[in-house]
Amino acid sequence: MSGQAIDTDCMTLTRFILAEQRKVPGATGDLTTLLTAIQSAVKAISSAVRKAGIAQLYGMAGNTNVQGEDVKKLDVLSNDLFINLLRSSYTTCLLVSEENENVIEVSSVEDKCQGKYIVCFDPLDGSSNIDCLVSIGSIFGIYKRTTDGAPTVGDTLQAGRRLVAAGYALYGSATMMVLSTGQGVNGFMLDPAIGEFVLTDPNMRIKPRGKIYSLNEGYANKWDDAIREYVNSKKQGPKPYGGRYIGSMVADVHRTLKYGGIFMYPATADAPKGKLRLMYECNPMAFIIEQAGGKSSNGSVSILDIQPEAIHQRSPIFLGSSEDVEEVLACIAKHKQ
Ligand code: AHM
Ligand code: MG
Repeated sequence: MSGQAIDTDCMTLTRFILAEQRKVPGATGDLTTLLTAIQSAVKAISSAVRKAGIAQLYGMAGNTNVQGEDVKKLDVLSNDLFINLLRSSYTTCLLVSEENENVIEVSSVEDKCQGKYIVCFDPLDGSSNIDCLVSIGSIFGIYKRTTDGAPTVGDTLQAGRRLVAAGYALYGSATMMVLSTGQGVNGFMLDPAIGEFVLTDPNMRIKPRGKIYSLNEGYANKWDDAIREYVNSKKQGPKPYGGRYIGSMVADVHRTLKYGGIFMYPATADAPKGKLRLMYECNPMAFIIEQAGGKSSNGSVSILDIQPEAIHQRSPIFLGSSEDVEEVLACIAKHKQ
């Protein structure tokens, strides 16, 4: 009987990051350590999302588990994992989380716990899909501090163009981590047998044009005329585009990266800045898509060129295959005339 085919030289995410680090002269290894902390958080969230230890996470009744402890909801648990693992990595000074109103300062310089990196993250995005088992994800963007002394909120307000690294984890039919450190995009699938992310999608590139548009059409009556005209145009002709919308940004953007097309969360009459948050939803995803050869925009400039003014600010977003994004931008420009 022949043995099972096991890759004895597989490219794990940890190995990949270490190899990347070696290419940067003078690298301290801090980014490697930071990314390892994120990897651990993601593995733990993945396990929780897969309902490991159902009783511990959910409790069989009410809000307490079988041990009588308070049960943490998945989004709270994910946030705690991100914060605790990043804090204890000694590589970060400030954290911005969707779940926390204020910037989190990692304990003071005197404690020598602070590092030079700032991490903005959405620990578990797609909240409306959590309870019905539809794909959800984690999103993160990493910046370097540019000032000395005690870190302040101002240090976090950097444009996406300055990202050192960004990525996301998708808890879908498999768990996948997609990462860019500014030299293209690579995708790693979690192999539950060994508990490691393994490189499965090297050098991911997005098609210049796709066949899918993705946005919440329930808000059609609240869109600008330009968006209505663009979406309508995608339904015409002998080969109309397919419509796909999961309602989880990570899943919708991952599909856009893999299959091509366009993802949009435009402004609506009720939400003139759209819904998605610039610093930990739009920027990391725009960084990945642009690194893969695609395009991102808020309707007039690249998402990555927006100067943030507040940590939780929102932005309309259009991103995906370059020709598709250019088409919607042309339509928006036409309506502005
Ligand atoms: P959340 O941070 O509360 O989970 O909201 C963000 C999510 C995105 O994943 C998704 O793209 C969007 O909200 C869907 O919003 P809508 O239900 O308005 O279409
Ligand atoms: Mg979110």
